[in-house]
Amino acid sequence: MALLLLLVTLTTCAATPQDLASKMFTFPEETNTAHVKLLTTKQDLSAVTVCLRSFTDLLRGHVLFSLATSHAFHDFMIYKDTNDYFSLRARNKRAPFEFQGYKLNEWNAICSTWDATSGIIQLWVNGKPSSRKFVSSGSDIIGPMSIVLGQFPDSQGGGFLTYLSFIGMISDVHMWDSVLSPCEIQNYSNELSFTPGNVLNWNALDFQITGRVLLEDKQRIC
Ligand SMILES: *[C@@H]1O[C@H](CO)[C@@H](O)[C@H](O)[C@H]1NC(C)=O
Repeated sequence: MALLLLLVTLTTCAATPQDLASKMFTFPEETNTAHVKLLTTKQDLSAVTVCLRSFTDLLRGHVLFSLATSHAFHDFMIYKDTNDYFSLRARNKRAPFEFQGYKLNEWNAICSTWDATSGIIQLWVNGKPSSRKFVSSGSDIIGPMSIVLGQFPDSQGGGFLTYLSFIGMISDVHMWDSVLSPCEIQNYSNELSFTPGNVLNWNALDFQITGRVLLEDKQRIC
């Protein structure tokens, strides 16, 4: 009986992945608390592709995707700085990218790829590739991953940095444990067919919302 109860409890607590097709997360205000945690069971990544869509009017710097492990606080990060300037991070190392054509008040398709063997990191904004730059090679992203949308983890004291938080909408988050081909990235960006992420899949997403983040239907203009 006790075992049965335990099983029932476990089943109820186990997160059920949700299909978020044509949904978006809305981050409607500046805080240092509101965020979405994305859950995965993967614990060793020798290569990464992260794709997502974002919509914002923020002129200040803001984080779009953050992955931390116990080994590296910024184990993988997509950060949009002021002007048309991006910072990508892998294994705590950073590479800068200028003038990629990020648009305010519109949806942007953003992808970042990294490979631990070559150490090359690359940014794609709306299907347009950046220069290929070196960040970090020779070691994988390893261990339980804390993946956060909406907040920039403060490497000093835990917690989040209000002034780098995200305000706007994020959708279509996928993550793969490989570097996607340019054709697949183009397909993602143009909303054509692509293989969903095998680390994070927007069509079967395991997530936890903390604070004022809304899960809403994407607005279609008719
Ligand atoms: C890209 O999309 C086209 C059209 O849907 C499809 O035929 C093609 O197989 C896709 N390519 C990849 C690499 O997924």
